[in-house]
Amino acid sequence: MLEGKKVRLRAVERVDLPIFVKWIDDHEVTQFLELNPPMSLEDEEKWFVNLQKSEDKVFSIDTMEGKLIGNVGLIKLNWKDRSVLIGIMIGEKEFWNQGYGTDAIETLLRYLFDELALNRVYLIADERNARALHCYEKLGFKKEGVLRQNRYKSGVYTNDVMMSLLKDEWKEK
Ligand SMILES: CC(C)(COP(=O)(O)OP(=O)(O)OC[C@H]1O[C@@H](n2cnc3c(N)ncnc32)[C@H](O)[C@@H]1OP(=O)(O)O)[C@@H](O)C(=O)NCCC(=O)NCCS
Repeated sequence: MLEGKKVRLRAVERVDLPIFVKWIDDHEVTQFLELNPPMSLEDEEKWFVNLQKSEDKVFSIDTMEGKLIGNVGLIKLNWKDRSVLIGIMIGEKEFWNQGYGTDAIETLLRYLFDELALNRVYLIADERNARALHCYEKLGFKKEGVLRQNRYKSGVYTNDVMMSLLKDEWKEK
């Protein structure tokens, strides 16, 4: 278990899956994500089984009071180059804008840089996702570039922003 100031990151348990499905079904939560809802509990269980076999790692995000509010994951762990792509979802909307996402990523970064000795953490965000971009900037992520018309959703092509944080920059901060 990884402990932050406001959240704890722990392994995903099967009992979390119906709650993940509820979040995925919420357009407001997933509008800027690469997911393609609807997703059934069966789909989510298949994802969970595959997760155990893959190098990807997902943590459930609990408040200090033990309420499950989101998940955060390592998607493309590259040991040779010591880099990883991360993604996050705070699914419980009433917890948005209170620093939970920032603390979850900060806690994950400590693990990635200090424990796993990675050098580069990067992420991709829809350029319209102002809350997420602000959260990443606060954490010190730097914009690397724009992936033009990278996604097609609800009839429109949208741009994505790629951002990264290097270990040296994180240590300085
Ligand atoms: C994006 C997300 C992870 C952020 O987590 P969070 O707990 O809401 O974020 P935090 O409270 O830590 O930080 C958000 C910051 O953005 C600010 N913010 C909110 N809405 C904003 C907007 N429209 N424009 C600019 N800044 C905004 C908040 O005020 C806060 O900044 P502050 O601490 O300086 O006041 C979370 O909202 C979420 O999971 N959303 C749905 C899924 C998603 O979009 N995931 C990210 C995919 S890249």
